[in-house]
Amino acid sequence: MKIVANSSEIDGGCTFVPTMGALHAGHVSLFKLAKAKSDFVVASIFINPLQFDDAQDLANYPRTPDLDIEIAADSGVTHLWLPQQGEIYPSVFKKFSAGELGNIYEGANRSGHFDGVVTVVSRLFELLKPETAIFGEKDFQQLTLIRAIAKGVKIIAAPTVREADGLAVSSRNVRLDEDSRAAASVIYKALIAAEISLNAQEARSQMRKACATQPLFNLDYAEVIDEDDFSIATDSTLNSRAIIAGWLNGVRLIDNMQMKTGGLR
Ligand code: PAF
Repeated sequence: MKIVANSSEIDGGCTFVPTMGALHAGHVSLFKLAKAKSDFVVASIFINPLQFDDAQDLANYPRTPDLDIEIAADSGVTHLWLPQQGEIYPSVFKKFSAGELGNIYEGANRSGHFDGVVTVVSRLFELLKPETAIFGEKDFQQLTLIRAIAKGVKIIAAPTVREADGLAVSSRNVRLDEDSRAAASVIYKALIAAEISLNAQEARSQMRKACATQPLFNLDYAEVIDEDDFSIATDSTLNSRAIIAGWLNGVRLIDNMQMKTGGLR
């Protein structure tokens, strides 16, 4: 694996996996999917200041550079791009807006977050000119927003990697204490309850009921949305998805699951 500091050292046309480092099993699955599709796999590690609304969160973001290099090299990455801030954000660059979808659900919880995400992804694409880019389905709102700005880059969604109890793998999971970690499986249970519901309304209510059984879990939202625009799904919605978010002892966790057509099995 070649480690490069500047995108000018990498030809266009790669399969690209952008990351913020602190690599874990979820990233490994993205790299392996990229490798299965191409012999030219570029991963980037750039902790994007624009997507943090809190300076302390940015300062506390986990940084594991040596382990990241090892994981990337072992997972099929051929080029690891470690850009400097000046390459991504020169003195003049275009800031993108995530629009209305950037302000609801995860966007309502983190002001400006999705504007920062679409801006950095646009810059990364502009510099690297990948053919294809891979993003995890776990961050479904992010994936939807990136699809909207991708322009000429093929976007592939990678399935969510789960722990044995169903908890979606995330860099935040290490911040859960023992009780919170045990309680976290309630999120997956709620999604399964939604999936086996007969319609969207029942799915919502089953998710909320499941969450209420776990007193440690502080639910923010449990909703069934239309995948295309995140409007509230009805029974005639063709592609609906259950989305859920909440806190466990101060750690925010999110997850989602595609529903059967119209919420019906
Ligand atoms: O999902 C992430 O890790 C980040 O939001 C991304 C897409 C790399 C942009 O900084």
